[in-house]
Amino acid sequence: MRIILIGYGGVARPFAHLIAERAGSLTRSQGLHLRVVAVVDSRGAAVNPRGLDVEALERFKKERGTVAAHPEWGRPDLKAVDVIEGTEAELVVEATPTNIKDGEPGLSHIYAALKKPCHVITVNKGPLALAMPALNELASFNKVQLRFSGTVGGGTPILEFAKRCRQGDRIVGFRGILNGTTNYILSRMEAEGVSFEEALSEAQRAGFAEADPSMDVDGWDSACKLVIMANHILARRVTLGDVKVQGIRGVAEDSLAQARQRGCAVKLIASADRTLEVAPREILRSEPLCVSGSLNAVTFTSEDAGEETIIGRGAGGRETASAILRDLIDIGRTVKGRA
Ligand code: HSE
Repeated sequence: MRIILIGYGGVARPFAHLIAERAGSLTRSQGLHLRVVAVVDSRGAAVNPRGLDVEALERFKKERGTVAAHPEWGRPDLKAVDVIEGTEAELVVEATPTNIKDGEPGLSHIYAALKKPCHVITVNKGPLALAMPALNELASFNKVQLRFSGTVGGGTPILEFAKRCRQGDRIVGFRGILNGTTNYILSRMEAEGVSFEEALSEAQRAGFAEADPSMDVDGWDSACKLVIMANHILARRVTLGDVKVQGIRGVAEDSLAQARQRGCAVKLIASADRTLEVAPREILRSEPLCVSGSLNAVTFTSEDAGEETIIGRGAGGRETASAILRDLIDIGRTVKGRA
């Protein structure tokens, strides 16, 4: 399978390493022959139809700041859409930064890939939060797959877990902690009396906070994930405008201590029942959903099986790269023999 990587940052780089490292075992166990034929970063592209050497690209990225500096494969003149349209490939991995204003540039990349048509794996939440129903329709019309495991839960297979719960049963709603940064901030404020600002700086240093902290603390990252889950799990044709969003800036230290006395904790909860909402809520400390630190957790309510909870780390480059690999293996089963 020939792969185009769009965006070469904190997730795409570990992903490129992961597939280079596992090339042998992926061939043996899955029959997959993976070749990264193009990589695009913010300053250009590197293209080689016979396959790029990831170690060499990494060297140029580190030393010169762009893969386009490679003397043989470097193409500083090419933009992502040119590469998608002009390079033969079966799969485009979209890993540019999330933008919830207009979804760009990721949205154009995904449209170009699906129109080509090519399978797409995205870890970019913006295009899905703003246009998931339309993107799903285009993928299905062009008979290609649009996958996005890494957009929710990092490496934790929350979407796959839900799919399994749904098999033979009906999920009627769910509640979850979908953002590690806010969970970390609230946990630190409550347990150690650390200030909001200090806890946010810690989360930024640890690398799981978004570049724009408003995405995390004002609830937008959780809201994007909620939209993706509502479309995928509950078959609701919704976008970000359908979510009522409130972040954690208004959570006072006192209210955390009072909640604790009542055997509760304040968490930023994303919920889907009749409506979609993100807001700080008190939950019982005895609930499985009540996880601390940067963990994510989601409780699904199904008609027959009742409540089922999945817990795991919701962020991290290597973790999210593993979710791309899961999606890729699924797609590989459908294209095997043709690539
Ligand atoms: N900033 C996000 C979080 C990263 O804290 O959960 C993963 O989407």
